[in-house]
Amino acid sequence: MADNDEVLLRVEHLCQYFKGNKAVDDVSFEIKKGEVFGIVGESGCGKTTTGRSIIRLYDITSGNVYFKGVRIAAGTRSYKENIKNAKATMGEGAKAYIEDQKALMAEAKRDHRKAKKLKAEDGKQKFITKIQMIFQDPIASLDPRMTVEQIIAEGLVIKGEKDKKLIEQKVYDVLERVGLVREHAGRYPHEFSGGQRQRIGVARAIIMDPELIIADEPVSALDVSIQAQVINLLDDLRHQMGLTIMFIAHDLSVVKYFSDRIGVMYYGKMVELATSDELFAHPLHPYTKSLLSAIPLPDPEYEKNRKRIVYDPLKAHDYSVEKPEFVEITPGHFVMGSPSEIASYKQELENS
Ligand SMILES: Nc1ncnc2c1ncn2[C@@H]1O[C@H](COP(=O)(O)OP(=O)(O)OP(=O)(O)O)[C@@H](O)[C@H]1O
Ligand SMILES: [Mg+2]
Repeated sequence: MADNDEVLLRVEHLCQYFKGNKAVDDVSFEIKKGEVFGIVGESGCGKTTTGRSIIRLYDITSGNVYFKGVRIAAGTRSYKENIKNAKATMGEGAKAYIEDQKALMAEAKRDHRKAKKLKAEDGKQKFITKIQMIFQDPIASLDPRMTVEQIIAEGLVIKGEKDKKLIEQKVYDVLERVGLVREHAGRYPHEFSGGQRQRIGVARAIIMDPELIIADEPVSALDVSIQAQVINLLDDLRHQMGLTIMFIAHDLSVVKYFSDRIGVMYYGKMVELATSDELFAHPLHPYTKSLLSAIPLPDPEYEKNRKRIVYDPLKAHDYSVEKPEFVEITPGHFVMGSPSEIASYKQELENS
């Protein structure tokens, strides 16, 4: 559990559009220092895009990302739209408002640019490298022509480290931390099993001494027996290094035990967010319910009665009149719904 309420990462109205495709659309959440924050949802719902937007692999379309209180990414589309709408609807009186929006947009652009160069407190590495991502595909993300040492040391080299002995020592250290051995340093990725490759990915991330790790489906490609090992490794490192983890998965059963809080994504939107216990005890959004209904339990009685709930957004909601919003329905439990849906979710909670 997070040992305090300090917010490490704040994502505000994040949008990442690829031409017409709203891969991430108005997503907001906070990650507290020390916690494991799970993000789940089916393939294509925008989990990886959310992670890649946070580490600035994209210039985000709109919204803000704050890390340790510093705005590290900012998009401009919302300001542009506000200006356009104001021009169309507000007439003469809109002038001051438009000036305001222009100023905010300029500030967003400035912060976004500035964050690229900003240094971390140690004055050496970049601020943004305090967030590291473990990439989804352990095979595709490791260059087959590079040795394990070169792969793991890459971040240090980019940071400007030239001391060969120091680099080597650090590589040995992290190899041992992730359960590999120093003899592995000279080998190539194809010589390793899937689980070992993922450990190399973890080593590459922790050598940068990060504060936040975004682990993008780090165990999805692995056998169930190996999955637990990699999750245990992340959990150990989290305690040893005081890490905060954003853990992405498409399967709720994987995130349940490891995550303090879970956000559920569907088609670019965050539809529900709560502590793990709350989400499993009182799921409200029909998509969350469908994900839960897909988890088999080792309980024959339960399994006999378990019904897969199929989520069909067109049948589940009528948003033609009332628009949905992401609402905090009880402290810490957020759900996406129209006013009448929210009222019925409240009723459901009271009756439970
Ligand atoms: N670089 C890109 N250019 C254009 N479209 C993209 C790009 N990256 C992702 N998309 C699209 O954005 C949407 C979200 O993709 P994303 O990879 O974030 O999903 P995901 O939740 O990580 O899925 P998975 O569980 O399969 O990894 C998809 O429709 C995808 O096709
Ligand atoms: Mg993905």
